[in-house]
Amino acid sequence: MSGNIKIHIVNGPNLNMLGKREPDIYGTFTLADLEIKIREAFPDTDLVFFQSNHEGAIIDYLQSLWGQEKTGLIINAGAFSHYSYAIHDALKVLSIPKTEVHLSNIYQRESFRTHSVLSSVCDGVIAGLGINGYILGISGLIMTLTKPAK
Ligand code: DQA
Repeated sequence: MSGNIKIHIVNGPNLNMLGKREPDIYGTFTLADLEIKIREAFPDTDLVFFQSNHEGAIIDYLQSLWGQEKTGLIINAGAFSHYSYAIHDALKVLSIPKTEVHLSNIYQRESFRTHSVLSSVCDGVIAGLGINGYILGISGLIMTLTKPAK
């Protein structure tokens, strides 16, 4: 049971194209399917999903989470992960537990994907586990918010 914990799941550009986009890499499920699977895994947790193709909209969303209690964040910023110092800065000052997730194993892919400028300002990073990466990330956030290990 996760009480009144709230987890925000932020997906960045092109993740609205899941199902159509490079299914060999990202799978055949859609963003709506991803949301359903995650909700099924956490029926008692308040989950809020947000997707945008726009850097500024993602930053506005992150800023809206300032000062919220018992709140955690999963962020898959898509390609912004590799170069958005603006999202890096927004995450850096956001003092809620934050986990970066990638569906694919970015370390096995093109060299520009092997570095994320967001990893250093997130508490944890999960890559390559598909939807399960989100589920593991949310489990970790709930554990952190209920019983911090450190
Ligand atoms: C991604 C990996 C990024 O390199 C890519 O631009 C995405 C998705 C992933 O979930 O594997 O859009 O973040």
